[in-house]
Amino acid sequence: MARTIKIKQGFIEFAKRRKGAIELINIQVSEKRKGYGTILLRRLEETIGKNKTIYLFNRKENEGGRLFYESNGYQVIALIPKFYTDNFNPEWGERSGDAYLIIKHL
Ligand SMILES: CC(C)(COP(=O)(O)OP(=O)(O)OC[C@H]1O[C@@H](n2cnc3c(N)ncnc32)[C@H](O)[C@@H]1OP(=O)(O)O)[C@@H](O)C(=O)NCCC(=O)NCCS
Repeated sequence: MARTIKIKQGFIEFAKRRKGAIELINIQVSEKRKGYGTILLRRLEETIGKNKTIYLFNRKENEGGRLFYESNGYQVIALIPKFYTDNFNPEWGERSGDAYLIIKHL
């Protein structure tokens, strides 16, 4: 079951299973790069607890997302080809559908 941590500037959705899985994180456009995403990650990591692994998938083209996770101690461990099937979006154009598997051991 997905859980959500909300703050005024955004939210993070995750599942707390044997491993923690981040499903979605989003910060309001006007509030980006002010540290709120990092605050949400820290709160999530406290909820998941020590000696656990958190994982997530990040669209290959989402470089900002990847850099955000890497700056918070997360590591890319694999590239999964054609992970997403919604490869076309009118706003973005064509995308590969490839995703990085990113993890952090707590
Ligand atoms: C990715 C996201 C959650 C980051 O949240 P944020 O509150 O802007 O991030 P923070 O301010 O905590 O950033 C911490 C650090 O991460 C890195 N970072 C964050 N966004 C970045 C970007 N777009 N490009 C490069 N580095 C970035 C930087 O090192 C940043 O530190 P700095 O601002 O001092 O340089 C936010 O941009 C967002 O909601 N994006 C849209 C949804 C999305 O892509 N989600 C991730 C995949 S599900």
